[in-house]
Amino acid sequence: MSADHSTGRVAVITGASSGIGEATARAMAADGHRVALLARRADRIDALADELGNGAIAIEADVTDRDSIVAAAERVQQELGGADILVNNAGVMLTAPFTSDQREEHRRMVETNLLGAMTATEVFLDQLRANGGGDLVNVSSVAGRVAPAGFAAYAATKWGINGWSEALRVELQPDVRVIVIEPGATTHADSKRVSKEALDWSIPPHDIADVIAFAVSRPQRVTLNEILVRPTVQAM
Ligand SMILES: NC(=O)c1ccc[n+]([C@@H]2O[C@H](COP(=O)([O-])OP(=O)(O)OC[C@H]3O[C@@H](n4cnc5c(N)ncnc54)[C@H](OP(=O)(O)O)[C@@H]3O)[C@@H](O)[C@H]2O)c1
Repeated sequence: MSADHSTGRVAVITGASSGIGEATARAMAADGHRVALLARRADRIDALADELGNGAIAIEADVTDRDSIVAAAERVQQELGGADILVNNAGVMLTAPFTSDQREEHRRMVETNLLGAMTATEVFLDQLRANGGGDLVNVSSVAGRVAPAGFAAYAATKWGINGWSEALRVELQPDVRVIVIEPGATTHADSKRVSKEALDWSIPPHDIADVIAFAVSRPQRVTLNEILVRPTVQAM
């Protein structure tokens, strides 16, 4: 393993087909990392991999389908020599008052945001460890710290990510650094999901991606454990 973490590593990004994941792929590639783009919308990640070049590969995968993640890990091993960085970014935010009507959405969020991140991590963990000095980046949320009305199930997944990451840090470091990123309101293509205020406030996905790229570029001796990144006008 090179002591220089700032370039030339292999980064696997889940949910790389849009938003923060896509921006993170761009930021990582710009820093000279080779990227593996995972998502369900193959057309989008295929186009992004073509655009990024430099060994970027697109792998259609669903974090709720373990077999597809195992197959993705095999491709990353064979084609890129294994992952140095895993960014658990894939997630869905389906907010609404907590009622039985939303039970399918509750389950989908837990299975994607929390169990999906756990699945990708246990599948890729040997690769992160094998190369020595791996990085696990878990994309949580400001909703992993505060929990407004309508966010009960979503916040549960993100508080879950934070608690899981705390324990993982104790288990995995110093071999694998565990970095939690907590974005605030970030511009999203599906504007129906967020309030008008949040849309007005929101910061572009590359503002979050830049922070992720910075965190993994730090020397191995230092870990940015947890980073809350909100728009300046978002007080909570
Ligand atoms: N935007 C915000 O304000 C904000 C704030 C805090 C935290 N976050 C978190 O940031 C992360 C990215 O969100 P975003 O805002 O960038 O939203 P986004 O544009 O909708 O991106 C979500 C990504 O997750 C992928 N995804 C969803 N379900 C998946 C599954 N089952 N398997 C694989 N990939 C899946 C989607 O790809 P496919 O549909 O192609 O599979 C997409 O690439 C999420 O974890 C979210 O909770 C966002």
